[in-house]
Amino acid sequence: METRELGRSGIKVPALCLGGNVFGWTADETRSFELLDALLESGLNFVDTADVYSKWAPGNHGGESETILGKWFAARRNRDRVVLATKVGLPMGEGKQGLSRKYIRQAVEDSLRRLQTSYIDLYQSHRDDESTPQEETLGVYAELIAEGKVRAIGASNFTAARLHSALEASRKHNLPRYESLQPEYNLYDRAGYEAALEGVCVSNGLGVIPYFSLASGFLSAKYGTAEEAAKVPRAGMLKKYFNPRGMRILAALQEVAREVKAKPAQVALAWLMARPGITAPIASATTVEQLRELAASTRLELTHNAIEKLSRASAEIVAA
Ligand SMILES: NC(=O)c1ccc[n+]([C@@H]2O[C@H](COP(=O)([O-])OP(=O)(O)OC[C@H]3O[C@@H](n4cnc5c(N)ncnc54)[C@H](OP(=O)(O)O)[C@@H]3O)[C@@H](O)[C@H]2O)c1
Repeated sequence: METRELGRSGIKVPALCLGGNVFGWTADETRSFELLDALLESGLNFVDTADVYSKWAPGNHGGESETILGKWFAARRNRDRVVLATKVGLPMGEGKQGLSRKYIRQAVEDSLRRLQTSYIDLYQSHRDDESTPQEETLGVYAELIAEGKVRAIGASNFTAARLHSALEASRKHNLPRYESLQPEYNLYDRAGYEAALEGVCVSNGLGVIPYFSLASGFLSAKYGTAEEAAKVPRAGMLKKYFNPRGMRILAALQEVAREVKAKPAQVALAWLMARPGITAPIASATTVEQLRELAASTRLELTHNAIEKLSRASAEIVAA
């Protein structure tokens, strides 16, 4: 397995991360075990989850994804083979949210218990919390690293200004720094990362692990029409993509896919992998076949021309 370092954490990861928000949602426990087994068989070992996954599914309360992962680690006795990323901060009910020292101390114990492990490789702030001083959050992360409960920390959904100020706070107070950023970024949703975050990440040597890499499955080009996409569990997230720009992106993806004899989902991931600062896109799968297809994208290298074709088709304004 070819690996790269996640920021300056010393942690080596492959070029693709499996998203865990499907565990306990669109993938039940049996299917989740199959997906995780297939991930290791494919030569990959990087998994992203969060305490809150998959709270939105009917009957769930949050913690389902971590619980399934914990059961899998226990059943397979393979915790040491996996680079495990999870997150804290989104509402878990009864005031349980945010990035205060008090809450993180409680939330990390809950995650470790559900995950049936003594340590988390990458512990991420799921979103910014402006009501907590950044030194306080980084200070509790320093404690967790010293105690061996966390190896490295990352940020998700931060603005460039707040990521920059967190990095400054780490420097000034001699605290651990965010080694990675997890932004929304894919061929369709580009501006949020490319405008300012990319610069902060590249100039500070942060690892970048983008989420929604397949735009919730839209970039697999499997939905012929918006009506078709409206019938699936991800309908709410998919509908924004069915417009002329979305169709232009799909057409370019299909053209490049034909040229390189690959699937559109693989091409969409390969485009992301080629972008500045990207360490490993995160994508989820709900069947072993999908997972194998995604894993193969790590061996797909696009030509400069193919990358340009995709970048032009997905630009917000296309020159006449
Ligand atoms: N930090 C954050 O705030 C945040 C937010 C969202 C997600 N995330 C992370 O990012 C991960 C990825 O996001 P996501 O899973 O929501 O979206 P995604 O990776 O963009 O889309 C994944 C979905 O696309 C479909 N798919 C996958 N491979 C396919 C293939 N080869 N062919 C056709 N369809 C395929 C599957 O859905 P179907 O079952 O519909 O086929 C799969 O679950 C999450 O699991 C989570 O770890 C983080």
